[in-house]
Amino acid sequence: MLQEATLAPSSSNLQPWRFVVIQDPDTKKKIREFSFNQEQIETASAIIAVVADTEMYHNIDEIYMANLQAGHIDEKNVAIQIGNAKALYPNAPKEARLNIAAFDAGLVSMQLMLIAKAKGYDTVPMGGFDKAQFAEAFDLGDRYVPLVLIALGKAAAPAYGSTRLPLDTITKFV
Ligand SMILES: Cc1cc2nc3c(=O)[nH]c(=O)nc-3n(C[C@H](O)[C@H](O)[C@H](O)COP(=O)(O)O)c2cc1C
Repeated sequence: MLQEATLAPSSSNLQPWRFVVIQDPDTKKKIREFSFNQEQIETASAIIAVVADTEMYHNIDEIYMANLQAGHIDEKNVAIQIGNAKALYPNAPKEARLNIAAFDAGLVSMQLMLIAKAKGYDTVPMGGFDKAQFAEAFDLGDRYVPLVLIALGKAAAPAYGSTRLPLDTITKFV
C-alpha cells in the first residue's frame, strides 16, 4: 500500500515524505499518551506516521539520476532540472520548504487512505497528537516534521456519518 501511495505527485518529484509504521503494542501505548488518549492508536492494526522531509533537496541527484537511468529524461534535460532544483530548494526558507513538504505529504496520505479503502481496509487521519513529543520519541531532529498519524485496520463498526458544505458555498464558476 505504501509503495502504491508513493506514486502520488510531488513538487519537482522530490517525494518529501517519510513513513514510520508502528505496530508494536508498547510503542502504540506510548503514542496514545500524547495523542489525547485516542483509542484507535492502540486498536488499529498499524499507525502510519507521515513525516515531512524539510531538506528534500538532498535527494535531487538520486531522484533525477534514477529518472535518467529509467529513460524518462535525456542527459541535457536532466542537467537542467537538477540545476533548477538545486537553485531553488536549498535557498528557500525552511518554512516554505515545510509548506511544500506538508502539501505533498497530504497528497501521499490521501492516496494511501484511498488505496487502503480499495483493498478493504479503513483509516483515520489524526492530527491530534503532540508533534514535539512524537519527534522526540522517534529522534526526528530538525529535518523531519511529523504531520499526521494514519490509523489503519479493519473497521470494528461502521463509521460515523459526516456532512459537507454545499458545493455552491465552496465553488465559484466563472
Ligand atoms: C489533518 C486531519 C487531522 C485529523 N485529526 C483527527 C484526529 O486527531 N482524530 C480523529 O478522530 N479524526 C481526525 N480527523 C478526521 C476528521 O475529523 C474527519 O475527516 C472529518 O470529521 C470528516 O469526517 P469523514 O472523514 O469521516 O467524512 C482528522 C482529519 C484530518 C484531515
